[in-house]
Amino acid sequence: MNNFKNLRGTVDLLPEQLVKWQNVEKILVEQLSRASIKEIRTPILEMTELFIRGIGEGTDVVAKEMYTFLDRGERSCTLRPEGTASVARALIQSGISSKPPQKLWYMGPMFRYERPQAGRQRQFHQLGVEFIGYQSVRSDIEIITLAWDILAKLGIKELNLEINTLGDIDDRSNFQKSFLNWLEINKNFLDLDSQKRINKNPLRILDSKNVQTREILKEAPKLLDFLSEKSLERYSTLKKQLAMLKIPFVQNYNLVRGLDYYTHTAFEITSGSLGSQATVCGGGRYDGLIEQMGGPKIPAIGFAIGLERLILLAGQELEISRKTDIYIINQGLQAEPLALELSRKLRRYDLLVELDLTGASFSKQFKKANKLKSKSIIIVGDDEANKKEFVIKLFDKVNSESKEETISIKNESILEKWIQNNLL
Ligand code: HAM
Repeated sequence: MNNFKNLRGTVDLLPEQLVKWQNVEKILVEQLSRASIKEIRTPILEMTELFIRGIGEGTDVVAKEMYTFLDRGERSCTLRPEGTASVARALIQSGISSKPPQKLWYMGPMFRYERPQAGRQRQFHQLGVEFIGYQSVRSDIEIITLAWDILAKLGIKELNLEINTLGDIDDRSNFQKSFLNWLEINKNFLDLDSQKRINKNPLRILDSKNVQTREILKEAPKLLDFLSEKSLERYSTLKKQLAMLKIPFVQNYNLVRGLDYYTHTAFEITSGSLGSQATVCGGGRYDGLIEQMGGPKIPAIGFAIGLERLILLAGQELEISRKTDIYIINQGLQAEPLALELSRKLRRYDLLVELDLTGASFSKQFKKANKLKSKSIIIVGDDEANKKEFVIKLFDKVNSESKEETISIKNESILEKWIQNNLL
């Protein structure tokens, strides 16, 4: 017996489930191209060093969650856990300095070795958007509103936008010094996980879910108090403009995000209907990343939406697939090749045409067409085939003579007229 199963944390998407995925993806791509954002595709497999340098050694993603292995040439490779570092690499590699600012998107699988649960997988999918070479607050606003509008376009309600600012690199390092001092003094009051993070990734302690740690953190130094005038002004402009656009938001001073590259704006969009894995979208500014990866000093901002979570939230109307326009019922030695020829001809009209290949009885094929709720059917038996003709009927009016026609295979203009009158 064959006992093969998919790996834990991965899922098969079967045709029934893919209807919704494809409908959602179509809307996403439409929205992105309307905003004149171009697609970029980077490899799923990258050098491990890219993520260590890009995402940060102390982050959970790099320290605990990467799928890393040596390839046959003894090179350390990693299945991408996210897309931002790869996009930055691809742009640096293709000569970013000589290019104007770019607005880019990507969609595809990402891999993180996390504990699987509802809305959390080891292979999951993201739609990511990156604006490279944009410094102004207006780009922060466009990024946030884009994410917000995409979710709204999919009819998703009960969304909460949380924002924070992480300041620039100097602000952060000033804060970090003072925060580390405080952490050393208060170490014993923190939960074990947070204690472990002190040396690796102290900022992450700020978004600890432990109740006692959260309580004691209220006494800790605040990042906000370490922001330069310029950073504060930037943040205040962002909030004013969001308010002007009537995008509701809450400030979450503990929002630090799980990846090290963020500066200034950080944001997340959560949904009340998602349960514990509530974040559907996360993003922020990463002005230092490209330089840190060996490129020029170029500012950037972006976000990624988790597609599994998006699919859970999107409405049921997106589960409906396009109806078959014509179902071709056929049987017999002469009829079958003719039916095949006919199906090829009909698909040129942008119709959804299904050719029955079962060779079953006419009544069985008829039942299948009925089950599919095909808009119309074509019937070809050997009798028709010998005369080089076929019968076409509108399915919901199968008994109405006027909607049934026998057409010669050679007479394409009659077929075309019938299609135009009844199907288009
Ligand atoms: P992230 O917050 O790590 O950001 O991931 C973005 C989104 O991906 C999450 O909000 C969530 O919806 C989804 N996601 C993450 N991990 C999983 C998982 N294990 N299972 C299912 N969904 C998951 C980034 O990845 C950044 N690259 C976003 C970004 C782009 N920042 C700037 N540009």
